[in-house]
Amino acid sequence: MHLGTYHSTHGRNHAFKLSHLLLTCAHSMHLGSFPFKMLLLPLCTRPSLRITLSKPSLVTTSIAGIGNNKSSSSSLSFQISRASSISTVSTAKEDAVMAQDGPNNQHPVQVAKHLEKFKTTIFTQMSSLAIQHGAINLGQGFPNFDGPEFVKEAAIQAIKDGKNQYARGYGVPDLNSAVAARFQKDTGLVVDPEKEITVTSGCTEAIAATILGLINPGDEVILFAPFYDSYEATLSMAGAKITCITLRPPDFAVPIDELKSAISKDTRAILMNTPHNPTGKMFTREELNQIASLCIENDVLVFSDEVYDKLTFEMDHISIASLPGMYERTVTLNSLGKTFSLTGWKIGWAIAPPHLIWGVKQAHSYLTFATSTPMQFAAAAALRAPDSYYEELRKDYKAKKDILVEGLKDVGFTVYPSSGTYFVVVDHTRFGLADDISFCEYLIKEVGVVAIPTSVFYLNPNDGKNLVRFTFCKDEETLRSAVGRMKERLKGKLCN
Ligand SMILES: Cc1ncc(COP(=O)(O)O)c(C=O)c1O
Repeated sequence: MHLGTYHSTHGRNHAFKLSHLLLTCAHSMHLGSFPFKMLLLPLCTRPSLRITLSKPSLVTTSIAGIGNNKSSSSSLSFQISRASSISTVSTAKEDAVMAQDGPNNQHPVQVAKHLEKFKTTIFTQMSSLAIQHGAINLGQGFPNFDGPEFVKEAAIQAIKDGKNQYARGYGVPDLNSAVAARFQKDTGLVVDPEKEITVTSGCTEAIAATILGLINPGDEVILFAPFYDSYEATLSMAGAKITCITLRPPDFAVPIDELKSAISKDTRAILMNTPHNPTGKMFTREELNQIASLCIENDVLVFSDEVYDKLTFEMDHISIASLPGMYERTVTLNSLGKTFSLTGWKIGWAIAPPHLIWGVKQAHSYLTFATSTPMQFAAAAALRAPDSYYEELRKDYKAKKDILVEGLKDVGFTVYPSSGTYFVVVDHTRFGLADDISFCEYLIKEVGVVAIPTSVFYLNPNDGKNLVRFTFCKDEETLRSAVGRMKERLKGKLCN
């Protein structure tokens, strides 16, 4: 099991010291004789150390512990990345990289410092394990059914009509207008499609363009954990300082006093997400009002990721931009993928007043410049869907949600309420596995179902160790089979 590669910026001697240090740690923690195989890579030419654990079952908290304890007592700074420390899984791509990165190879993988701690995302890892074990994938949030015919037809038509060259950078006029019209219908806010909207390659690019276009190195940005994984990586690329407020079960309510004390003179923005991945929480009007007051009082911006705004079950979605005094300090982020079951199209957008969209547009110009032209025309057609489309979507998803939630309860999980998104979070601890990673590995290998460990959504992975996330964006038969497997192969493992 490959745990990571350490590059000493202080020269080869530090790498030697580190290898000695880790071996000493391994012995003092009674991990058995030589559980580590350490390879100095390549010893004679580079100050690098590749760390390999030959007993994958000795998963990682102990290893992470070694890193933490001993790095503080040494002048070396050593951290095993979150992703690598929680995984014994590698993708085909990773395997290829690892093969290149072998002891006889002179080319260990390289990555810029601000991305060093991030590895292959857990979604890729779990999806790849699912294939390996023939497991039903209730992990990664992509539907296993197709988007609507009228949208696909619109894309085909746009291609046939020759709409195939670079689009205008901030979006084809038709799409900008459709986004503005949809936003007005949803929030009552009238925005100028030409001056207040930038079309991007999915919401992920909208998030990146917003952060890179409006955040300076050293600015503080507040996140609510658990959070979508691109936030932390993109903030890291921008050199932002992250402050994290943890939302806790059962209701994942916003701890307003904690938020109040987290805001400082350096706080530039709060990056939030409602309906919320992974918990399914929807921010209540009261919470949004409290956040809004704090932002106005302290001159803080809000970046609001609303990609699940149409997947709501118990209450209506509220855009924070629609609260009094908030539009002028909010960037609203959204995309087509979830609402139209077309996650592979990657059409997204940012909506903000002209003084804020300027930065977003500038960053977007140099990230991708423009987004797929024919798909933008099709996206415009999609957004003009009648209300009945959205009602049907909700009804369909509600039926799927009921199958999964009832099934999970029956299997014995503690299921937390999900008011929106296509996710549900459960507490797995009644099944006696050490943490969310061990539980998900067991679930894939022994039960044949994939879930996502939530510790990857936290700055402090321990906060998520009791929780795993399931998705219900699958057809009903798939959901029923997954529930059936869990009833058959997991229920018997209940401890209390
Ligand atoms: C909260 C959240 N934001 C953004 C995205 C990415 O959206 P897109 O596929 O449009 O880039 C996702 C996808 O899972 C998500 O869950």
